[in-house]
Amino acid sequence: MGVVIRPATAYDVDAVVDVGRRTWPQTYTPLAGEDYVRMGLDKWWTVAATRPLVLAGKATVAELDGEVVGVAVVGPLTGDLVLFRLYVVPEHQGMGIGRLLLEDVMTTARETGHRILRLSYLDGNAGAERFYQGFGFVESHREPTGDGIPDSIWVVRDLWEQEQS
Ligand SMILES: CC(C)(COP(=O)(O)OP(=O)(O)OC[C@H]1O[C@@H](n2cnc3c(N)ncnc32)[C@H](O)[C@@H]1OP(=O)(O)O)[C@@H](O)C(=O)NCCC(=O)NCCS
Repeated sequence: MGVVIRPATAYDVDAVVDVGRRTWPQTYTPLAGEDYVRMGLDKWWTVAATRPLVLAGKATVAELDGEVVGVAVVGPLTGDLVLFRLYVVPEHQGMGIGRLLLEDVMTTARETGHRILRLSYLDGNAGAERFYQGFGFVESHREPTGDGIPDSIWVVRDLWEQEQS
């Protein structure tokens, strides 16, 4: 398996958007419904919303045999680094690509002096919950999402502590 993890460039914007468009329906339709998926794709998974993140150096892609199949996007939020997006397209999940992306994010965060990495997932996203638990993230708080959408579960990882086994 030829997986390359690298910073996204301007040439990747369409491919990054495509990762979200391929991943969101399967992930969120059962949890939050079609309207939520449509809202998310219209709001966050567009070229206009994604290009600034890529150009600001906040996006990392996973390329499998030359095709972008996964993406991680980080950014600051109230003083901490937050992983805002981590997605691997459905047909390539469970192959270790999410692990490579998250490890890259954590390594870069440490190298740039960050101690804390936060992220949230929707309550009921059991796959995300187990994935992040495996990397030592622990719940910090819940945030109501409204409109009948499950709460956001915020989790945190101290990057300077050894990973739990
Ligand atoms: C969550 C996600 C990013 C993980 O990426 P991935 O490439 O599928 O995961 P990996 O193959 O790298 O798995 C890494 C580890 O997490 C575990 N894991 C991954 N997905 C899991 C799942 N659904 N249930 C249980 N464990 C899971 C694996 O068993 C693996 O553990 P191991 O290395 O000890 O064997 C990916 O599955 C995804 O995009 N899911 C849908 C979208 C989503 O929920 N994103 C997170 C939103 S906050």
